[in-house]
Amino acid sequence: MPSVVMQRLEDSCDVDLNEGADLTEDQLIARLRDKQGLVSVFTNQVTRRAIESAPQLRVIANVAVGYNNIDLQAARERGIVVTNTPDVLTEATANLTWALILDITRRVSEGDRLVRRGGWKGWTFNFMLGSDLAGKQLGVVGMGRIGRAVARRAQAFDMRIACFSPRASGRVSLLDDEGTEFGSAESMPLDRLLATSDVVTLHCPLTDETRHLINQTALARMKRSAYLINAARGPVVDEAALAWALKSRLIAGAALDVYEREPEVQQELLALENVVLSPHLGSSTTETRVAMADLAALNVIAVLTGQAAVTPVP
Ligand code: DGY
Repeated sequence: MPSVVMQRLEDSCDVDLNEGADLTEDQLIARLRDKQGLVSVFTNQVTRRAIESAPQLRVIANVAVGYNNIDLQAARERGIVVTNTPDVLTEATANLTWALILDITRRVSEGDRLVRRGGWKGWTFNFMLGSDLAGKQLGVVGMGRIGRAVARRAQAFDMRIACFSPRASGRVSLLDDEGTEFGSAESMPLDRLLATSDVVTLHCPLTDETRHLINQTALARMKRSAYLINAARGPVVDEAALAWALKSRLIAGAALDVYEREPEVQQELLALENVVLSPHLGSSTTETRVAMADLAALNVIAVLTGQAAVTPVP
């Protein structure tokens, strides 16, 4: 917790801070027994058992926009408010997504590895060729705040935008958070988006429906020249299937910020050159992390002082 946020919490509550590793379920249960509020990060599994063992708990404030680590149903049944941190991390996560897109399509990390191991023998005409983006299609899966912010940046690279929508198809207007139109996208079913996009970028939440959304069948639909980007949640992609697709050059490359079993990464992926692997950095800028922690603190304080939460999960 940034000290300024700790101060805000300590001004209104007694705080029991866990500065060590993530608590086990039993440790969390023991610590929550007499608590009214919990500030959690997405690596804390807030299970039904933990929620049911905390008789006084009134609010769980996740310091993340995703909240798949919390048993929402169990919290709802107990009337506990669950909050997340939307908006404040949108720009940082969209920027990291673009860092990954540019890195994998221009082979920056691959080149960096080559230089460091002394493998660069000098400039040649057809050395380490990457792919241009202009005129190509960016397929966005999950047109929430982050998906839209990624799409907005795609205009600077002259890309066409496609988005997956299970319902709508055809042209849709893209609106920013103020409701101002900044462009348009072709809305299409997932199969078509996968088959026609040059870069597919994932920004959907992890749910029962999206777990392994990108599996062997989905990867086989993609163009051989296409790239997959995942800065959403690891389990949206079947990592073993992705390693297979990359090894067999079924797709050109992938860039991942999130993994199925963090911090573990599929051994096979580690050995491949056509994948960029970043360690879950989506929202990790100093400014964004302070803003996320502060929003979580405001949510806890609001609920514990009888006011409406600032950003309750829908
Ligand atoms: C989020 O906000 O969901 C991020 O993954 C946490 O960094």
